[in-house]
Amino acid sequence: MPARDELPDAFFMKLSGLIEAELFLKIESVNPSGSIKHKTAISLIDAAERSGRLQPGGTVIESTSGNLGISLAALCAKRGYGFTSVVDPNVSAQSVAMIHAFGGKVIQVTARDAQGGYLGTRIALIKEMLAADPTLYWTNQYANPANPAAHARLTAVEIAMAHPEADWVVVGAGTTGTLMGFLDYFDGIRHPAQVLAVDSTGSITFGGQAGPRFIPGLGTSRIPEIYQADKLRHSVLVPEPEAIRLCRWLATSHGYLAGGSTGSVLAGIRARADLFSKGTKVVALSPDGGEKYLDTVYNDAWVQEVYGALPALDLSADRPRQRLEEAASEVS
Ligand SMILES: Cc1ncc(COP(=O)(O)O)c(C=O)c1O
Repeated sequence: MPARDELPDAFFMKLSGLIEAELFLKIESVNPSGSIKHKTAISLIDAAERSGRLQPGGTVIESTSGNLGISLAALCAKRGYGFTSVVDPNVSAQSVAMIHAFGGKVIQVTARDAQGGYLGTRIALIKEMLAADPTLYWTNQYANPANPAAHARLTAVEIAMAHPEADWVVVGAGTTGTLMGFLDYFDGIRHPAQVLAVDSTGSITFGGQAGPRFIPGLGTSRIPEIYQADKLRHSVLVPEPEAIRLCRWLATSHGYLAGGSTGSVLAGIRARADLFSKGTKVVALSPDGGEKYLDTVYNDAWVQEVYGALPALDLSADRPRQRLEEAASEVS
């Protein structure tokens, strides 16, 4: 277990009004560097130290859409290592500023890879830099078993301790570290909860067609090495505009400003509401808060430019209609 000064107590927020089942959001913005990636960073650095390949005064390099970069920068600052983050144009200006605030360096790639994303370009650059400087240590979150281990060992255990009777756990997939860790832990032996995985439309991880995506966090343009498709039972793809509508609904109905991937997770829950019957308990993961997304997810002009007109989600209007439809189908 990491030192107590590196992780806070777990925090869950009850969410009413979305589904009939009891729903709790696990808020990961409470971590010292603001996202779930604080746990991933602890596990990656612990493994690097254990292997002896990261020596005192060494430098860590990683490809990250933002959050892992912020968390590695924070952890490297605390433990006395240098840090360089390789990012793409989807990164928010605030993420870059935060990495700099922790003393890290940022390199941004701009060329798209063969799949239309940036991951291939970021990895190619890191390989070039490693070849030129063998003292650099690449945490390699897409292939490193310490990534899923973080979430089997820390995140899933926090859920199981706070909600031992949870029936479902809902989680987004980026590197799939959180997802794979959850599938290892919620295996029916250690804990009976089932796992619903959520990804963005345009991501190829679950076999979908590659397409443009603008919200960092979820999705890939290349299957991560740590992803094991045979472990996945339940998954859903969510269009990004729907994720934005759910983020805005959460902010205006519950007063919590969440990051884009939290909106995707909630949109996934809404899309698969059939799984969550009344009387069941669902725990959904909120990987980060919304402050870094004020210029995108929460900015009307940006949303209009990228996705076009987006009507607000009005669940109070949806539900009576749904009940009327149910009543009508019972009568007919
Ligand atoms: C905001 C956010 N949500 C979700 C994820 C996905 O988590 P994982 O990489 O464990 O699949 C990330 C990963 O960077 C993220 O930053």
